[in-house]
Order: sequence, then C-alpha cells, then structure tokens
Amino acid sequence: MEQMIVKGPCTLSGEVRISGAKNAALPLLASSLLTSSPCTYKNVPALEDIVTMTHLFRQMGSTCTSSDDRSTIKVSHQNLSTPMALGDLVKAIRASVLLLGPLVARYGKASLSLPGGDAIGARPVDQHLRGLKAMGAHIEIEQGTILAHSRRLQGANIRLDMPTVGGTENIMMAATLAKGNTLIQNAAKEPEIEDLAQALIHMGARIEGAGTSSIQIEGVDELGLAEYTVMPDRIEAGTFLIAAMLCKGNITLTHCKPKDLLAPLEILRQAGAIIEQGDSFIQLKAPATLLPFDVITAPYPLFPTDLQAQFLTLSCLGNGTSTITETIFENRYQHVPELIKMGANIKVSGRTATVFGIPHFTKGTVHGTDLRASASLVLAGLAAHGT
Ligand code: UD1
Repeated sequence: MEQMIVKGPCTLSGEVRISGAKNAALPLLASSLLTSSPCTYKNVPALEDIVTMTHLFRQMGSTCTSSDDRSTIKVSHQNLSTPMALGDLVKAIRASVLLLGPLVARYGKASLSLPGGDAIGARPVDQHLRGLKAMGAHIEIEQGTILAHSRRLQGANIRLDMPTVGGTENIMMAATLAKGNTLIQNAAKEPEIEDLAQALIHMGARIEGAGTSSIQIEGVDELGLAEYTVMPDRIEAGTFLIAAMLCKGNITLTHCKPKDLLAPLEILRQAGAIIEQGDSFIQLKAPATLLPFDVITAPYPLFPTDLQAQFLTLSCLGNGTSTITETIFENRYQHVPELIKMGANIKVSGRTATVFGIPHFTKGTVHGTDLRASASLVLAGLAAHGT
C-alpha cells in the first residue's frame, strides 16, 4: 500500500475482533523448522511479513499452504533441501533472524542474510549469535551473510546482556534439540515468548520458566507436529483503543487478552478512559477531555515500545503536557516530525519527547517510516480536521 487517505475527524464506535499477534506468529512459523512433521497454525494475521516468511520456506524447498482468508497456515519441511535464506526477502523482515536457531539445531548448518526490518535503531543480533556459539555453533559473518554450522548443539548456561525478545526466542528454539540442559538468564518475559514455549511444549519440547527471566530447556532428540492457535495481538488491541480515545468513541475489543496489556490500560485510565474488561474483551469509553500522561517504554511487563508511537499521538491531544521516554530503540521518534506537520507541538531531547497538548490535528501529507509510526499517523488522521 503506497498511500492511504484518511478523512477526519471520524466517529468510531463498535466492536472489533483482534487478530493473531504478528510477533507471536513469526517465531511460531520459524519454530516449524524444528520438526519434519507437519505444522498447522491458526489465527495467523494476514500480513506481508507472514507472506514473506512463507516465501522463504518455499525457497528452501518446504511446502506451505494458506487458507483462503490466510488465517490458517500449514507448513511441512519434510522436503527442505537448502537450509539457506538469502537476499531481499530476508532483509525485508527482522524476524527472519529467527530462522537461524532452528536451522542450526535441526540441519547442523545455515546461511542467512543479515536481517533488515524497520529502521528504528541499530538492532544488532550479537546476543543471538553469542547464545548459539555458547551451544557449540561455529558462526561467521561474510559480506552480510551469517554462515553457521555445528554438530549437535550442546546445552549451555547463557546470560543475555539485555532481555532481547528475538534473542531469547532463537536460543530457546535451538536449545529444544540440543544435547543436555540450557539455562537462559536475563531472558525476555514478553507474552509472545510464553506463546512460543507453549507451542514447543505441545511439539514435545521440555521448557520451564518461559515468561520469567530464567528459562530452562532440557533438549530432546526430536520434536513432533504442531497444531497451534496464535495468541491475540496486544499491540493491535492497544492501537484500536487509542483510535477510540482520539475519536471520542465507545469501543469493544473481542478475542483479546487484557492481562497482556496492564501497563497500556493503566495509562489509558490516566488519560481519562473508562474501561471494563473480562478475560477476553475490553470495553473502552473515551472521556470528553483527554488528560496528559507520562510513559516510559521498557521490557514487559512494563510499557511496550511497540505502542510508544500510538500513545505519543494520543498525548498530542491531551489537555496539558505529557512526556514519552523511549528506552528500547534509539531511533524511534520518526513519527514526531510527521505529527508536527499535522500541527502537533512536540520537543524531543535525547530519549524523551515532551508533548504540549493541542486542540486538534490539522490536515497534512505525512510519510510512514516504520510499522508502528505509520499506525500512529493513521490515528492522527482519524482525529484530524481535514484530509
Ligand atoms: C521484538 C519485536 C518488536 C519489538 C521488540 C521490543 C518481534 C518480531 N519483534 O523485536 O516488535 O519492538 O521486540 O519489544 O517480536 N539488542 C542487541 N543485541 C541483540 C538483540 C537485541 O543489542 O542481539 C537490542 C536491540 O537493539 C534493542 C533491544 O536489544 O535495543 C531490544 O531488542 P529485541 O528485544 O531483540 O527486539 P526484537 O526481538 O528485534
């Protein structure tokens, strides 16, 4: 999609069914490489990154089919011929690095272009590589390609320098087929890691502690088939809630998991939202006046960086001054100059944006940079006076 035209201001009210989580579906698909048995994933979101991942599988010789609505994907790696993912497709998604652990663990070798993805910071993969090396993999980087080979991986004690989500997932997946026990310390605790661990456990993996900072994996000789339903997308849920806030709406989200959204829901309440929630729904009624708030992004269970841009847009219409501090990625304010084009009053100093509330956004032509920044601009468009 090259261009979206949003005519504001909109009134938004109604019910939305939340999709499966992008950040759970991508690692789950990668984990299918750990078995030669067929794998079926349901509630997969219909996204370009998912299509890219299935293309990568087909390039390796695997079979991959999607249902008409793209929500169910079946994968079989029985005929995988080349444990290799090279070129532009790999660079298009950051999550392609998650192929590395499973490929090395099951095929003993892998060639993978260094991943790309959104330009929100340097996003190195040193922790992923260090973890796999600790398990005995030989890894070199030659002209932008990661070349890895190994005999059977060996369990290891790995303490991550920071709780990286992808790094935790890559090492956890690889460790399921390693010989012996692996301990990942300072592991990321995001719900998507628990979801991945659940799927792996269904396939026969022995994992304890996923969702805490210490994950223990006892390696097994092989894993069996997967049949798994992807968890709901907490970032999509948060984004719809903000749309309702900005448009003074009354919204109900279904098929979501409010318990994964405690920190964002707390900030929405501070902004004046009236929220009711059950196990799998959230009802939000927007206030007449949006109140200012302060947000600091941090690893789960604290406030997610993937909702920073959307909350920053919300704070622009607050009745006062808000602050947003981004601690995870160093270049994640690319939406700020675009929001300023629509009338926002924001000053960025280092990692903190101070946002002075304005009555409304104005019309404008703005550029989407990364995924969540683009979402934040659509949100601003929904509330803007003009097109
Ligand atoms: C995942 C999410 C992404 C989210 C991010 C943080 C997926 C597919 N993507 O990305 O949407 O914004 O978590 O919640 O799940 N780092 C290193 N070395 C490494 C790995 C990471 O220095 O080897 C740094 C990164 O540069 C960043 C921080 O650690 O500053 C967190 O990154 P990480 O948790 O790895 O993010 P991703 O897994 O790439």
